[in-house]
Amino acid sequence: MSEQRPLTIIGHRGARGHAPENTLLALDTGIRLGAPWLEFDVQYVAGECWLMHDLTVDRTTDGHGPLAKLSAAQIRALDAGGGQNVPTLADALDLIENRAAVNIELKTWDGCAQAVAKILRDYIADGWPAERFLVSSFHHPELWEFRELLPEVPVGALVCGVPLDWAGPATELGAAVLSVSSEFVDARLVEDAHRRDLQLWVYTVNDVDEMRALRALGVDGFFTDYPDRALR
Ligand code: G3P
Ligand code: MG
Repeated sequence: MSEQRPLTIIGHRGARGHAPENTLLALDTGIRLGAPWLEFDVQYVAGECWLMHDLTVDRTTDGHGPLAKLSAAQIRALDAGGGQNVPTLADALDLIENRAAVNIELKTWDGCAQAVAKILRDYIADGWPAERFLVSSFHHPELWEFRELLPEVPVGALVCGVPLDWAGPATELGAAVLSVSSEFVDARLVEDAHRRDLQLWVYTVNDVDEMRALRALGVDGFFTDYPDRALR
């Protein structure tokens, strides 16, 4: 029988099942629940890297319209739920203080890689281990640029489907991880990722039975809004 591979549990947008997504409260909650990894989304707008998933602020804040149209002062004034602010990448890392490993998802492609690389370089110089970061994106050219700028930080290729050459895009990017939407996972994709020496992570898995089934297929990690369920 093949040996069980280690399982990585990643709190999705912090721990969005318990707190407003991509806020400091969600990150703190993820840490409190014991998530060994935290994922959040980052967009580079008005000279800062903001934690936000959507390109518009309507769903997650009390504001309206595209994030990219707002000034830094206007973004700081938004309520992201329960009085939480929209944090910057530096705010998030200062809160986490290496108590969890961090998966930063690049959501924009207009200098985001460069801005994130600049910030991570400083945190690594201050002692944050590079391998406790994973930078990922659906935008593979942006991820490629990040890798060129800061090759010591591992990258993860995100896909929402099955590419023609299976886990091939992750290999091409020199990634450590391929992360795929749960509905597309099957034994062949898992096997191809492992043959390429990649980890196969799956988003977003909140149901315990689904976690068990995916684990039986051999997946290496789950993004979950409820890290407590995965840990149980
Ligand atoms: O990184 C995994 C997952 O967060 C990707 O999808 O839409 O939740 O950012 P999304
Ligand atoms: Mg994400």
